[in-house]
Order: sequence, then C-alpha cells, then structure tokens
Amino acid sequence: MDYKSLPKPFYILAPMDDVTDVVFRRIVTECAEPDLFFTEFVNVDGLQSAGRDRVLNKLRKLASERSTVAQVWGKNPENYYKTAKELVQMGFVGIDINMGCPEKSIVGNGCCSAFILPENRSLASQVIEAVQSAVEGKIPVSVKTRLGFNEVDYSWHEHLLKHNLNMLTVHARTRKEMSKVPADWSKLEPIVKLRNQLSPSTLIVGNGDVTSRKQGFELASKHNIDGVMIGRGIFTDPFVFAKDSPWQDYSKEQKIELLKRHVELFDKTWMPGERNFDMLKKFAKVYINGFDGASDMRVHIMECKSAQELLEHIKTLQ
Ligand SMILES: Cc1cc2nc3c(=O)[nH]c(=O)nc-3n(C[C@H](O)[C@H](O)[C@H](O)COP(=O)(O)O)c2cc1C
Repeated sequence: MDYKSLPKPFYILAPMDDVTDVVFRRIVTECAEPDLFFTEFVNVDGLQSAGRDRVLNKLRKLASERSTVAQVWGKNPENYYKTAKELVQMGFVGIDINMGCPEKSIVGNGCCSAFILPENRSLASQVIEAVQSAVEGKIPVSVKTRLGFNEVDYSWHEHLLKHNLNMLTVHARTRKEMSKVPADWSKLEPIVKLRNQLSPSTLIVGNGDVTSRKQGFELASKHNIDGVMIGRGIFTDPFVFAKDSPWQDYSKEQKIELLKRHVELFDKTWMPGERNFDMLKKFAKVYINGFDGASDMRVHIMECKSAQELLEHIKTLQ
C-alpha cells in the first residue's frame, strides 16, 4: 500500500497493547473500518530470541487483512533489520517504529520515548535506517512519537524528518505529560511546517483525545494534518470510524450480541494460554454500558474464568 493514496484525512486505529489483536481488529472492521490498523507493539529483541513464540502472537493476522501496519519497538538495530525482513514476508502493509511509549521500565532501558533524548538520537537513526534498508522500499516505514521528552522539543521532529519517513505520527503530549493533560493539537503545527521544508512527502498524523470521526476531521482541517489516529475513543464507541455512528441508539440486546461476537472470535482464534483471558473481560466495559443493569452484568462477567464459561453466561443474558 502506498500511504499517499489514502484519503485526506485518513483514519487509523491506534496501536494498543493487549487490545488491538487480530480479534479486536476484526470486530472494528465489522463495525466501521478505519483506513489503517496498527498491531500492538512488538518487541524485536524478544522476537529474535528464545521467547519468540509469545511475541509472535502479537503479529497474528488474517490473510484477508489488507491495511494492517506492524508496530515494533526494541533496542538492537540488527534485530530491527531481521524483524523488518520477516514483516515484509508476513504481508504487513507497513512498519511503524515506536518512539513514544512513556513506560518507565521501557524508557529506563533506552527504548521507545527514550529515543527522543539527544544522547539516543544517533541510535534512533540507526534503527530507522536498519528498517528502511531491510524493507528495500517494498512497504512504507513510519515512526510514532510524542511532542518531546520533558518538554516540547521540535529538534526531535526535525531529526526524524531527515530520514525520509513515509509517515510520522505525533501524540500531542510530551513523555512527561504521559496521558495526564489534554492533548494539544495546535503544537503539531510547527511539525507540519518542518515537514513542508524538510520532507514534503512525509504524511503527518495527529493523535490524542479524539472521540469521534467528526472531531478528528475538524482537528485535521484546523491544523493541516494528513491523518487522524484514534485510540481510547474506540472504547466509548466501537463505531468511532463510522461517518454516522449508530452506537448511541444501540439496544441492550445489540450490545450483548457484539460482546458475544467478540468472545466467540477470541475462543476460535486463541488456544488456552495463548492470550490473556482477563484482558478479554475488560472489553465488557466497552459493550456492556449505557443501559439499566449494565454494571451488575459486568460484575458477573468479571467472575467468569474462561471464554467458554463467559459464552454460557452470555446465553443467559439473551
Ligand atoms: C491500553 C493502551 C495500550 C497502548 N499501547 C500502545 C502501543 O502498543 N504502542 C503505541 O505506540 N502506543 C500505545 N498506546 C498509546 C496509544 O496508541 C495512543 O497514542 C494514546 O492512547 C493516545 O491516543 P488516544 O487519546 O486516542 O487514546 C496505548 C494506549 C493504551 C490506552
């Protein structure tokens, strides 16, 4: 896929660890499909080690998926290189490098948002170059990052824009801000200006606090952004990418049916132990919401110990 053929603005479901697996991507496709999906972030150093099998689950995808980008993180450029070669073979439409995750343990290890720090920028360059040389132009390479580490720092985006990236996603907060303050999309404007000067073909994607397609459209238009990435907005509306979301009018029965579909797909896709069942139950918050008795229903759902038990329980609700 050539990202340049995407509509303006285009919409992306954000990478979310333990959330955007092959099952949830299918649910979102059935509700209202974005232009691009991202996998959960996948550790290249883990993938190229004895623990490979566990990491591979995060890369599971359907042959029919034609718009899924693999997101990777890690430290070793050689492992990025080897992984990128594999991802091309696996049929991902692009590779995105995570240079924004603020998690203390990850940053302490010099990965993700630690790349923003000036002392780590030459390693960041090596990582990008390793992935670009592995893919040999066959699929696009992008980076997802933040406004800065402790404060907004456009020298970081200038550094990135010298690497001929196909796309650059910026979560409109610094690493220090985590997710504690509102995202400020106006701070993306200098990055768009830098892009115009340094790398006109790099698409800029904005991310942070978007809860509807319309709001994303307005933000993109106002700040001259090419694409809109939505993460947690999918939790309050599984149809968030729809032009006219039906979610507000969804009945209790329809919501239970959607949860059932998710659990059935989970059960068919994952063997016991391959995927954390407790994470599946957290989706109950998404679907079982906004009607009388929803909170009691969620309490009972949380007591289930397996997908099978949960499916039996859902039958009693229908
Ligand atoms: C549960 C969860 C898991 C996340 N995992 C990832 C990840 O694997 N890779 C990544 O780049 N960002 C990850 N993020 C950050 C989101 O992609 C996104 O940047 C952030 O949530 C802000 O966007 P939003 O306000 O639309 O949710 C995660 C966020 C959440 C809530």
